Amino acid sequence: MQVKDRVIVVTGAGAGIGLALAKRFVSEGAKAVIGADISSDLVEVCEAAGVHPIAADVSSENSIVSLIEETEERFGPIDLFVANAGIGGLPGGAEVPDDEWQRIWDINVMHHIWAARHMVPRWTERGGGYLLTTASAAGLLSNLGTAPYTVTKHAAVGLAEWLAITHVDDGIKVSVLCPQGVRTAMTEGDDPAVTNVVAHGLVEPEDVADAVISGLEAETFHILPHPQVADYVRHKADNIDNWLGAMVRLQRKFFPRSEG
Ligand SMILES: NC(=O)c1ccc[n+]([C@@H]2O[C@H](COP(=O)([O-])OP(=O)(O)OC[C@H]3O[C@@H](n4cnc5c(N)ncnc54)[C@H](O)[C@@H]3O)[C@@H](O)[C@H]2O)c1
Repeated sequence: MQVKDRVIVVTGAGAGIGLALAKRFVSEGAKAVIGADISSDLVEVCEAAGVHPIAADVSSENSIVSLIEETEERFGPIDLFVANAGIGGLPGGAEVPDDEWQRIWDINVMHHIWAARHMVPRWTERGGGYLLTTASAAGLLSNLGTAPYTVTKHAAVGLAEWLAITHVDDGIKVSVLCPQGVRTAMTEGDDPAVTNVVAHGLVEPEDVADAVISGLEAETFHILPHPQVADYVRHKADNIDNWLGAMVRLQRKFFPRSEG
């Protein structure tokens, strides 16, 4: 897909990767770029970038429906929906309380399900459309120190795969964006779940936007701003036990058990 002359919605456009994507779509000549976010900075950052702000909370199906309806009334049919908003690593595993699992599940997974629930019928009727979801390399591999992030990003990848298979004959394309570390608010701080990501090197949000433009043009399913992620995925598929062994070595390095 070429983004020129398209109507595009980007969630999480108030900052970070979503803002860089929205800006890039504007500079590539999109017909209208709609930036959705809960951030109080949304209007200011969007208007400075030529993006149309619409306040939306992606953890609410009603809010996603309103976003879609308002966009289509004001700007016409949505060609590309970018489900990008997400939250990062709640540290911990099964002990994380249910309400926190539910919160990250709603934002990182149900958001994509609700976008598909309300866009797929429209696109099927119109003969096509494009869904780009932002998962993470954590959805293909793992994110040390945070089960909720790892699990929700795996679910996001699984959903994107299923949609790509099921709706290709409805003319619907799906890609999934799976970066490693990107320099945004999400990679600030000194939690070990973040520092090990940072240790593998950060790219800029604008580099992610480059990869997205290329990936949309080529209509590849995986969009990988860090090309080494493809090697890691191959390594994992070739020999899962060796891959787990390598991950355990990283786990011991970044989360050392205290002696005695
Ligand atoms: N930064 C990284 O290293 C990295 C790596 C891989 C994947 N990702 C993914 O990229 C996406 C964007 O992350 P980012 O790094 O730009 O983070 P960010 O924190 O800079 O931006 C996320 C944006 O999403 C918005 N948001 C959060 N909850 C929302 C909600 N309920 N409704 C609407 N908007 C909401 C925030 O207000 C913020 O503007 C996320 O899905 C994240 O998991 C990030």
